[in-house]
Amino acid sequence: MTKRVGILTAGGDSPGLNAAIRGFGKAAIGQHGMELIGFRDGLRGLVEDRWQDLDGEALAGILTIGGTILGTSRDKPHKMVVDGEVRDMVPTIVENYERNKLDAIVCIGGGGTAKNANRLAQAGLDVIHLPKTIDNDIAHTDTSFGFSTALGIATEAVDRLHSTAHSHHRVIVVEIMGHKAGWLALGAGIAGGADIILIPEIPYSIESVADSVKARAASGRNFSVIALAEGARNQEDAADLAAATALVKGAGTPEAKAAASKHKASVEAAHRDNPFKVASALEEATGLESRVTILGYVQRGGTPDANDRLLGTLLGSAGADLIAEGVSGVTVASQAGRAVPVPLADVAGNLKTVPLDDPWIAAARGVGTGLGD
Ligand code: F6P
Repeated sequence: MTKRVGILTAGGDSPGLNAAIRGFGKAAIGQHGMELIGFRDGLRGLVEDRWQDLDGEALAGILTIGGTILGTSRDKPHKMVVDGEVRDMVPTIVENYERNKLDAIVCIGGGGTAKNANRLAQAGLDVIHLPKTIDNDIAHTDTSFGFSTALGIATEAVDRLHSTAHSHHRVIVVEIMGHKAGWLALGAGIAGGADIILIPEIPYSIESVADSVKARAASGRNFSVIALAEGARNQEDAADLAAATALVKGAGTPEAKAAASKHKASVEAAHRDNPFKVASALEEATGLESRVTILGYVQRGGTPDANDRLLGTLLGSAGADLIAEGVSGVTVASQAGRAVPVPLADVAGNLKTVPLDDPWIAAARGVGTGLGD
């Protein structure tokens, strides 16, 4: 029996998505004789039953293209805004899966997508998740496609900021993405030779950061480049966020949860201008002119590098093999260079942050990079 499979990309776009669609599709069609359809705009397309046929023609020439040919969205299936109301659309997804006579659905995305894929698996669908994100924060996979390209872009930015910081004797704070994990800032900071790296896993003291900048200035290096992860917080702000998060987790009633979530959102919103706060605090403490560069979406745009093309192809084609074998309910993880199926239930909701004993942290300290603690 010919298997009919749907595929979608969800969450923030990242380089390597098209390589994974192509890797999966070529193996599914060419090696296993499957039929493939692509849902548009992530889980929203699955709810609205918007899809296109993906044949050899549609998969040709996309390996090197950034973004996703299918479009994406950040919709959650159990809490989707439809006609202005938040609704549970899982039953609609199940109906559309059956109407399209699907044997499996492939969800390509990050940690949020793993959770959503797990919800669909719990509703009885055969689901495979392929791990993509520039944040590298998906549990049980060594890395995710998108990370390598973003790491290269952020590293080049840190490199380039050195010559301008050096010329003007300035402090430059460069904000690097990564959500709640510090992988991207830590990796780009080390590879680009940042003088100080601040990540969410190590709440910083601004006094300690200022001391590092002043020590550099005293030794004749009167400029500093600081790689600041978007989720990094000073020790007081980190404690406030931990308390707000604990309130949400501990809330006993839906009303208490709503109030605690609102409070947490306001704590998070207050953090948005953090790079500017860090720069002005450092200017005041060190007397060195300070500037901010926010790398933003440039980190996830454009053509994937060789690593992400390889990883997307490896995990995509392995995903097709798994479906052919009848495996579902898994993330196709990359472990020691191999594609390994890991139960979705172990991946969903399990954020991979930087362990404090990670070799990257030891290496950063080893070369004298300040980590703000
Ligand atoms: O998860 C990828 C990512 O780029 C994060 O690094 C960042 O925090 C987030 O997405 C930005 O989200 P959005 O695309 O919704 O602005």
